[in-house]
Amino acid sequence: MKHFELRGGAMHAEDVPLSEIADAVGTPVYVYSSAAMIGQAETFRAGLARLGDPLIAFAVKANPNGAVLKTLAEAGLGADVVSGGELRRALAAGIPASKIVFSGVGKTRDEMELACRGGIYQFNLESESEAEMLSEVAVGLGCLAPIAFRINPDVDAGTHAKISTGRAENKFGIPEVRALAAYARAASLPGLKVQGVAVHIGSQLTSLAPLEQAFTKVGGVIAALREAGHEIQVADLGGGLGVPYEPAKPLPPTPQAYGEMIARVTKDWNVRLVFEPGRVIVGNAGILLTRVIRVKEGGAGGDPFVIVDAGMNDLMRPSLYDAWHDIRAVAPRGARVTANVVGPVCETGDTFATGREVDRVEEGDLVAFMTSGAYAATMASTYNSRPLTAEVMVRGNRFAVIRDRQDIEALIRADRMPPWLASD
Ligand code: LLP
Repeated sequence: MKHFELRGGAMHAEDVPLSEIADAVGTPVYVYSSAAMIGQAETFRAGLARLGDPLIAFAVKANPNGAVLKTLAEAGLGADVVSGGELRRALAAGIPASKIVFSGVGKTRDEMELACRGGIYQFNLESESEAEMLSEVAVGLGCLAPIAFRINPDVDAGTHAKISTGRAENKFGIPEVRALAAYARAASLPGLKVQGVAVHIGSQLTSLAPLEQAFTKVGGVIAALREAGHEIQVADLGGGLGVPYEPAKPLPPTPQAYGEMIARVTKDWNVRLVFEPGRVIVGNAGILLTRVIRVKEGGAGGDPFVIVDAGMNDLMRPSLYDAWHDIRAVAPRGARVTANVVGPVCETGDTFATGREVDRVEEGDLVAFMTSGAYAATMASTYNSRPLTAEVMVRGNRFAVIRDRQDIEALIRADRMPPWLASD
């Protein structure tokens, strides 16, 4: 995470000391580096340089903040959206509809209408009944919806079960054996224009082998579809490339290696490729900055508890997926200790690290949870009535709040009293 480094003994985000952000905005706070995300977008694009003019559609779910989307839009990225809300955010950030693909198993009629009206690049459909509904919507609006079916290649992505999507038993896509029938059906529907195929087998992939296996199957499907007379011009290869979280683990494949594998597998495909990277663009472009509330001694002579002011509601990944986030003191004191790092939420699951060697910290010290740019702020909740955390973006020696800390009064006001409880 080269944009979050120690300088003169204190961690900076680009050229801004993190302590300055904590003093100005309070903690916990998410801090993003523009240089890191722009750099990753460029590295990813460079990795695919031999693949013609691919559409790189950032998976908005990884980080939907408007300033993040605008930064990536300026870097030339499109968007992969999975809801009407994400579609509206992408458009609001200036991403043209011609660079937007719409994925997801449960698109509603309203969402289809919004996307059809907007004139998006492609709908990635996940069932034949979805195709029927989209055709009806498109006919009603007088438009032609460009579609691909997402193929479920029944491949084990080798990642956490909760973020694996390409096995037959997962809810995603249509089985390979149904492809010909599904495309025949779609081609007969008046509101659809069949243009591509799509695949996405999971997230935080640390090996290229399952991707290669899936893409090879997709190549077979494209050939069969063309044989059956369909004009396949687009292949959307999804996202999934992992990022390094844990320093001791082997590095995941680079975008360069990913691009080389894809160039090899797709060399005869003669299609425009689409990619939907999320984590690899923003994962290492963000941290969660938090302050130590107190250090409490461990029970039964166990390791001490470092209690920080960020909780599982702010960063769910450790409690949800047993995910590892590197934990570093912003101004390390030199010593290391074995500790449990926990939040203030009233659940034992509110634990970021158990028995981990970390920088020794004291009450009031700042701590950074690294690799928190993806699937972090966006998955936060207000559990324990903890307002949503602020977000800050850094550019060089400047920083700006890109989402205000939620106001507890606003949370309280959002509740409505039924007439029988209203006081007057
Ligand atoms: N395309 C589709 C259809 C997806 O479902 C996803 C992620 C992506 C692209 C982007 O994948 P990426 O390049 O970011 O791996 N909350 C989980 C991750 C869930 C991923 C869901 N789908 C986590 O915190 O690890």
